Amino acid sequence: MSNVEKVLMASQGPEFSQLVQGYWRLGAWNMTAQARLTFLKQHIELGISTVDNAAIYGDSEQLFGEALALDSSVREQIQIVSKFGINGIAPATGEKRVSHYDSSKALILSSTENSLKRLGVEQLDALLVHRPDFLMDVDVVAETFAELKASGKVKHFGVSNFSTSQFELLQSRLDAPLITNQIEINPINFDVLEDGTVDQLQRLCVRPMAWSCLAGGDLFSSDSDQARRLRGTLLELQTELDASSIEQVVFAWVLKHPSNPVALIGSGKIDRVKETIGALDLKMNTEQWYRIWTASKGHGVA
Ligand SMILES: NC(=O)c1ccc[n+]([C@@H]2O[C@H](COP(=O)([O-])OP(=O)(O)OC[C@H]3O[C@@H](n4cnc5c(N)ncnc54)[C@H](OP(=O)(O)O)[C@@H]3O)[C@@H](O)[C@H]2O)c1
Repeated sequence: MSNVEKVLMASQGPEFSQLVQGYWRLGAWNMTAQARLTFLKQHIELGISTVDNAAIYGDSEQLFGEALALDSSVREQIQIVSKFGINGIAPATGEKRVSHYDSSKALILSSTENSLKRLGVEQLDALLVHRPDFLMDVDVVAETFAELKASGKVKHFGVSNFSTSQFELLQSRLDAPLITNQIEINPINFDVLEDGTVDQLQRLCVRPMAWSCLAGGDLFSSDSDQARRLRGTLLELQTELDASSIEQVVFAWVLKHPSNPVALIGSGKIDRVKETIGALDLKMNTEQWYRIWTASKGHGVA
């Protein structure tokens, strides 16, 4: 099994591990703080040093921070990504009427401050805009990013779920390159391969971060015709590629894209994390890649 390597995300850095551990579902893993630390150390040991979190992920930043606090030597071994911008209704107070996106200066600063506090760290390696805010004033965002960088609270900035024009608009006001667009890429939904999103990243030599590579588990559990077709093809390819699971085949499919994505892992089970690493050794050819495309679409290419 390969050890996971670090890769450059954009021309001015940072370096992230080619597989990134996602912590969205941490609250559901029901682990003690010690078990969370053990899991973190295990994936670091495998080379998965970058971790993904977000202000909106329930108590996951807090739970992660509690684990990190048990061993102060771990912070310097990891790269922490977090995100801001989804202003949800707090169940306890319900003071807002609808959840909404917010990229105001006040929100960015308070969200970042709260993420740092919950994680128990002084700096984020990268802060991403979680979802594009229709009211985003890019001059305000750029000014706020500059302030966060100058204060040392954030090293790099990026976006998530941005269209090409939104990416270009924000980039036009920044001195340093946005380091990623974190986007959904899996065999059930790969709109970003068709709408120009990954073409833009490839042109700029900025790596996407691919989220929900297993479609949040739907690839295994969905009864849709599309998911059934995909499971059949993935099983065939598992045998052909001598892979040990269909997950490996899916991750190899995502990683084969020439925009050179780094892929997020969503499982909190270390055996599944190890399994995913096997994808880095698979050699999928172009015809095999298109068999998954064809199974997803339900028709061949024109
Ligand atoms: N930027 C965004 O808008 C955005 C959106 C969504 C996610 N993300 C990020 O991407 C990360 C990964 O997303 P994700 O959690 O949706 O990833 P995913 O890998 O698509 O889905 C993970 C889910 O699939 C299940 N699973 C894995 N292998 C399985 C198998 N063999 N059989 C059945 N179920 C299986 C996992 O269950 P187990 O836990 O039981 O293994 C887990 O519930 C998140 O943690 C978050 O950091 C970002």
